[in-house]
Amino acid sequence: MTAIRSVVLGCGSYLPQQVLTNADLAARIDTSDEWIVQRTGIRERHIAAPGEFTSHLAINAAKAALADAGVEAQSIDLIVLATSTPDNTFPATAVAVQHGLGIHHGAAFDLQAVCSGFIFALATADNFLRSGAFKRALVIGAETFSRILDWSDRGTCVLFGDGAGAIVLEAQEQPGLSSDRGVLTTHLRSDGSHKTKLFVDGGPSTTQTVGHLRMEGREVFKHAVGMITDVVEDALARGGITARDLDWFVPHQANKRIIDASARKLGIPEEKVVVTVHLHGNTSAASVPLALGAAVADGRIRQGDLVLLEAMGGGFTWGAVLLRW
Ligand code: COA
Repeated sequence: MTAIRSVVLGCGSYLPQQVLTNADLAARIDTSDEWIVQRTGIRERHIAAPGEFTSHLAINAAKAALADAGVEAQSIDLIVLATSTPDNTFPATAVAVQHGLGIHHGAAFDLQAVCSGFIFALATADNFLRSGAFKRALVIGAETFSRILDWSDRGTCVLFGDGAGAIVLEAQEQPGLSSDRGVLTTHLRSDGSHKTKLFVDGGPSTTQTVGHLRMEGREVFKHAVGMITDVVEDALARGGITARDLDWFVPHQANKRIIDASARKLGIPEEKVVVTVHLHGNTSAASVPLALGAAVADGRIRQGDLVLLEAMGGGFTWGAVLLRW
């Protein structure tokens, strides 16, 4: 029996021009390149210019994804944008992106699941495409975390950066087999009992301010590997495969130690793991599509490859997507 699948037509990325290295940070606060690299693997991050907003980053990534897919913006009828750093409290940054791309039909909305945002957005778009509600979607992760960091808190400000990544998804009829192209299975989780371990201490309803990111780093670290490997194992089981069958593992780019420990626990060899965290730090919802974009651009990920995406973030939220490129 045939099945409607959400097939990836193309992907694109955008990183702001300004690069902030560990050495630049060490000149401002009490930290060192050695400490940051050893604990996180991060070497540099990109910072949005004054006047450069999340929507601008998202539009650049979306245009790159449309060009890579070889389709016109007018053919898009759904935009799902994952972000925790919207241009404004409302309207959704997705409508600014829709307007910036010259699209006036279909639907555009934001989705907020912090660092798991792209995984949640991809799963949401996949459900809309498979239901027949929409035909072609832009799924975007875009963030300007530099705007919500406390630059005097060395425990958090060294970890994050700005960026955006996007993919174009199309509903296509496939044979209904595990060899189908497109999204094969999605798994989403959240548990609000952890909500104070990684949060922003402001908001419209509480303080009427934007606030700053606060984190209990050790607590996040303690839970991350278990949550990630649990949800990945569910995705593999639902897909009827084992970790050995994967061609590529594209994890959330928060911390090299979390990536390495998760891959080791899952039995995924290092050469199949896509790592870009050293180049842009933790860009939250943008991190998975940025890593995906890098591995597609350099020819590692090719059509037909089996790819596992995962992320974990504030909430806590966590999730995994198994797809065939
Ligand atoms: N530079 C130098 N020293 C720093 C520092 C920095 N940027 N940040 C913290 N330290 C210091 C601390 O003050 C502390 O010093 P003390 O022992 O004198 O008090 C020491 O380093 C250890 O701090 P701790 O927070 O226990 O370090 P850690 O080994 O847990 O590493 C993280 C900190 C943040 C790197 C680590 O906890 C982590 O990676 N957590 C997960 C974070 C994450 O990925 N979050 C996003 C998930 S989406």
